[in-house]
Amino acid sequence: MSNTGPESEYEPLFQNANHIVVFTGAGISAESGVPTFRSPDGIWAKFKPEELANINAFMSNPERVWEWYQHRRDIVEKAEPNSGHYAIVELERIFDRVDIITQNVDGLHIRAGSTHVYELHGSLHAHRCLNCSTPYTLSLKEQGVPHCPSCGGLIRPGVVWFGEDLPSAIWQQAEEATRSCDIFLSVGTSTVVYPAAQLPFLALSLGKHVVEVNPEPTDLSRQANIALRGPAGEMLPKLVEELRRTRK
Ligand code: OAD
Repeated sequence: MSNTGPESEYEPLFQNANHIVVFTGAGISAESGVPTFRSPDGIWAKFKPEELANINAFMSNPERVWEWYQHRRDIVEKAEPNSGHYAIVELERIFDRVDIITQNVDGLHIRAGSTHVYELHGSLHAHRCLNCSTPYTLSLKEQGVPHCPSCGGLIRPGVVWFGEDLPSAIWQQAEEATRSCDIFLSVGTSTVVYPAAQLPFLALSLGKHVVEVNPEPTDLSRQANIALRGPAGEMLPKLVEELRRTRK
């Protein structure tokens, strides 16, 4: 496995760990065919966030924003979890506690079978009334933006838009997991969108071991204890294999 730290550093790091946090971003789903946000062919290369992922965009043109989310739902529904997602599920057989903190809204960690998944930015599969917040279940036949059966308000995607707060209970659980973990594994995220990106830096400030999996360097790379350079779908199964072999 290629990493920037010597192998001798790598094994003891995981040897005595009981609790691992896996913090993921769009990169973990890239090999499932879900576009990332900031790569040259990523989502924000074609659309400006301020035009689509915020409340003002929805209020001024709900149909346009709805269509964009419908397009993303279509991609995700056709996608399958990849070997990276499944390797993360396998970590549950190796460590006593595994928490997945994800910025992704695609639901692929849950579909792969991970047990403790905190979706910081909500889900493409959740919807609620913009007016009264009542959850809404989409039916397959629906065309266009639905209206709330209780109050007639517009139904919005259950994702966190720019300028909105993260769901507070989920954020607290994510922070608690970060504070109590032994190892913080950051996978497939550019670590530029806050407050989510605070978490790896919080882990570092608490003296946790931080391991990054990403084919490209990020703001976190220089401070991470180990940087595994490569796609998650290759690096994570190798990591799991190595842990199975070396952990007693
Ligand atoms: P980005 O698109 O910013 O970053 C994706 C990262 O994945 C980059 O660092 C890539 O190098 C890396 N990557 C690409 N392919 C990979 C692979 N096969 N394996 C591992 N890593 C790979 O996506 P995020 O960091 O998730 O928020 O973006 C964070 C947030 O910004 C998103 O949750 C979204 C967006 O705006 C909201 O919508 C609120």
